[in-house]
Amino acid sequence: IFIDKSGNEFKTIEVDGIPIPPFPEEMLGNSYSEHFRKLREMNIRDDDVIICAYPKAGTHWIWEVIQMLRGQTTEYHKHIKEQHMLEATNIDSFDAEPSPRVLNSHLWPKQLPKQIFEKKTKIIYLTRNPKDTAVSMFFHFNASSDLNYHGNLSDFVDLYVNKQLPYGLWYEYVLEWEKFFKTTENPFYQFSYEDMQQNPVDHVKGLAKFLETDVSDELCEAIVDACSFNKLKKANDEVKDDFIKPFMKEGRSLYRKGKVGDWKNWLTVADSELIDQMTAKRMEDSQIKLKYTI
Ligand code: A3P
Repeated sequence: IFIDKSGNEFKTIEVDGIPIPPFPEEMLGNSYSEHFRKLREMNIRDDDVIICAYPKAGTHWIWEVIQMLRGQTTEYHKHIKEQHMLEATNIDSFDAEPSPRVLNSHLWPKQLPKQIFEKKTKIIYLTRNPKDTAVSMFFHFNASSDLNYHGNLSDFVDLYVNKQLPYGLWYEYVLEWEKFFKTTENPFYQFSYEDMQQNPVDHVKGLAKFLETDVSDELCEAIVDACSFNKLKKANDEVKDDFIKPFMKEGRSLYRKGKVGDWKNWLTVADSELIDQMTAKRMEDSQIKLKYTI
């Protein structure tokens, strides 16, 4: 249980020393310990690909793009990406999914299925600047019926820079992945939410190349358009299974604003400075280039 300065609390479970949101065990079809044991041992197929990112980096967006690229289509996938998210889905259900599968997770490298490393699965890794991530996460935790965070944004920012929120500190998560990419034999494509906003067509083409998918420039452009914020938000309401709906409060959506730099509308000067100070301290040796505006 995490408690902020004003006494607001929310619950997590701990796996390998890292806090994870308490997805209901009924949904996982197993106890937490059995679920995470099965996850580590899960069967990975040669043509699987996995998207890894800290929460709120834009995984829903990129997941849909990758599904379209692999299916060579601009049709929306009927599932929401949570149904293909390792820590939130019954591991047995992955066996029934047709290939090619687009897996996704917010877990740390050491927590992923062992076969991801044995089979050198392609990894798509996405980051987002820590200020927009904090704001997006605050609204998500407030909108989520299971996390149900009631605190204010400043209290949340204090937790965000100091405490282990679900999936750990943003700083520790990105540094861990940065270290992982220095030695891994897995092929990877690394980019940011801001890069994708700035040059979506270039990145969709780059992702197609990375996935060795033969798609025309026209289809790449059509995928960018189909996955633009408003269209994807609409598709989420109209096309997708209801899987996530019980986890969000009535009328709330994770398709909130979809902009770079929205933090300027929400963070106080003190909140923003706190994140700047922590970033300067923690990211001193990092090569990651952070973009707060585009
Ligand atoms: P905001 O809360 O800033 O609006 P994730 O998918 O990792 O949960 O991240 C969610 C964030 O990505 C939300 O950010 C959401 O609005 C944004 N997002 C989702 N789809 C998007 C799209 N097609 N284009 C731009 N941003 C998108």
